Amino acid sequence: MPLLPPLNPPITDWTGLRVWIIGASSGIGAETARLLAGRGARVALSARRAEALETLRAGFAPAARDAALVLPLDIAHPDAVAGAARTLLAHWEGLDLVLVAAGIYDALRAPAFDAAALPAVATALHVNLMGPYHVLAALLPALTRQGRGGIAIISSVAGYNGLPRALAYAPSKAALNNLCEGLYFELRPLGLAVYRICPGFVATAMTAVNDFHMPALLSAQEAAQEIVRGLERGDFHIHFPKRFTRFLEVLRWLPRRMYFFLLRQGARQL
Ligand SMILES: NC(=O)c1ccc[n+]([C@@H]2O[C@H](COP(=O)([O-])OP(=O)(O)OC[C@H]3O[C@@H](n4cnc5c(N)ncnc54)[C@H](OP(=O)(O)O)[C@@H]3O)[C@@H](O)[C@H]2O)c1
Repeated sequence: MPLLPPLNPPITDWTGLRVWIIGASSGIGAETARLLAGRGARVALSARRAEALETLRAGFAPAARDAALVLPLDIAHPDAVAGAARTLLAHWEGLDLVLVAAGIYDALRAPAFDAAALPAVATALHVNLMGPYHVLAALLPALTRQGRGGIAIISSVAGYNGLPRALAYAPSKAALNNLCEGLYFELRPLGLAVYRICPGFVATAMTAVNDFHMPALLSAQEAAQEIVRGLERGDFHIHFPKRFTRFLEVLRWLPRRMYFFLLRQGARQL
């Protein structure tokens, strides 16, 4: 039993809740959509690959399939996000939760960094960071009018500390971690819930390219279960697996000299 009340209202029943998942065509987003549809939520599925979204919806039980919406979009395009938001707000007459799972990873490394890498940096920042801003711009007027509903953003433990092989990805996630705190502070008094989700390593298409051992690796199904449990508890910072994320949290507080030393030792063993 926790000593302090949760930072967000716990979600005790998903039945009929209207949940928009952006980045639902694969990995963590797809598994979370599957889980929530199975618990009776009405889900709207967005990402660029319309076919993958349709396939996901087709796998739902009949009632969930009938209730689900498929709204393909590119989160990097604010007009596309605003258009989809208008469609679902009109259809559902409101929204209970948006989960932003869309993200891309490009292993940008400093020794090979030059002007040719800049487009990849811009793309990563545009999708990972501007994408959630596009969602906020499209939804906040309606959500603040409603005075209820939640915004959940999948960031990453990669945003806790500076990391190798992630020159654009990790800074985009560090900015998201910070953004969620600002959002929480300003939106919670208006009745909205804000969730910052920081997974460790999860086996998805994104990490399939990694050529190193990923400690404490979870499946996408396990990650989805952790996310849903965190939302149900009303956590603000939903992070998992704890055996990995708590260790990374401790690293945040170390003097940087010690952090760089440990990181170098760890990188040698990967
Ligand atoms: N896997 C991990 O170890 C890990 C760890 C920490 C955090 N995360 C974060 O978790 C989230 C989900 O990643 P994942 O691991 O599940 O990888 P994934 O299977 O590659 O899923 C990424 C999702 O983002 C969507 N997406 C990418 N670019 C998009 C765009 N421009 N517009 C709309 N949707 C877009 C993809 O759909 P389309 O390609 O169809 O657009 C897909 O649905 C990401 O934010 C990632 O940074 C992952």
